[in-house]
Amino acid sequence: MRKQIAAANWKMNLTIAQGEALLDGIIAKPHHLKPEQLVVFAVPFPYLAMAQQKIAGKQNVFIAAQNCYSKKSGAYTGEVSVEMLQSLGIKWVVLGHSERREYFAESNQFLAEKINIALEFDIQPIFCCGEPLSIREAGTQNEFVTKQLEESLYHLSADQLKKVVIAYEPIWAIGTGKTATSEQAQEMHAHIRAELAKKYGKEVADEITILYGGSVKAANAKEIFGQPDVDGGLVGGASLIIDEFVAIIEGLK
Ligand code: 13P
Repeated sequence: MRKQIAAANWKMNLTIAQGEALLDGIIAKPHHLKPEQLVVFAVPFPYLAMAQQKIAGKQNVFIAAQNCYSKKSGAYTGEVSVEMLQSLGIKWVVLGHSERREYFAESNQFLAEKINIALEFDIQPIFCCGEPLSIREAGTQNEFVTKQLEESLYHLSADQLKKVVIAYEPIWAIGTGKTATSEQAQEMHAHIRAELAKKYGKEVADEITILYGGSVKAANAKEIFGQPDVDGGLVGGASLIIDEFVAIIEGLK
């Protein structure tokens, strides 16, 4: 059975005191996670150690980095390596978020290198893909997302791919309050799964967790997560509010 995940992406928000209070507030609420359901908090680098301590001993709850560099170590001032993440006990990293692609020019090829090094150090990537508004309006979103998968993931073996979680985040729905309809999300998730099945076979494709991201909130999580090919969400704004994110976790099917 594939995993369902409620993942928080704090992006570049909160002071450490605010982050601690947010984690404390969410963790304190009762959660009814099934064995296949996970909660992941992608927090800013300086808060990783604090967050890792807060969730110590909690089952099915993990901390993720929001990025990492593609090289093992060396003279790369300001970058963070997967070995550093591993040394903190971090098991997850978000890669290829559209904000990194747009503001830091991260290409599909560069992301393939980051995926490789994350897997080499046993850190599971949450690989983001998704089209801008112009592509959606032109109706070529399926081809656009297929290319992202091909160029960043298709060099992986089936066993490696099974460690990757895919997050479909249509850029026009991020931080805009404009959510994709549950039909639009399902349509793209089914497309991604069909493409993975073409390359890796249906059995492998059926094991891959595919999250939806883009204006997920308490009010729409249950409906979106209820779609057959949607296995949870990657949540920005609403993950910064205790009650919102707790309700989103409860929305996992
Ligand atoms: P919002 O939930 O704020 O739209 O952000 C989505 C996102 O980018 C999560 O990675």
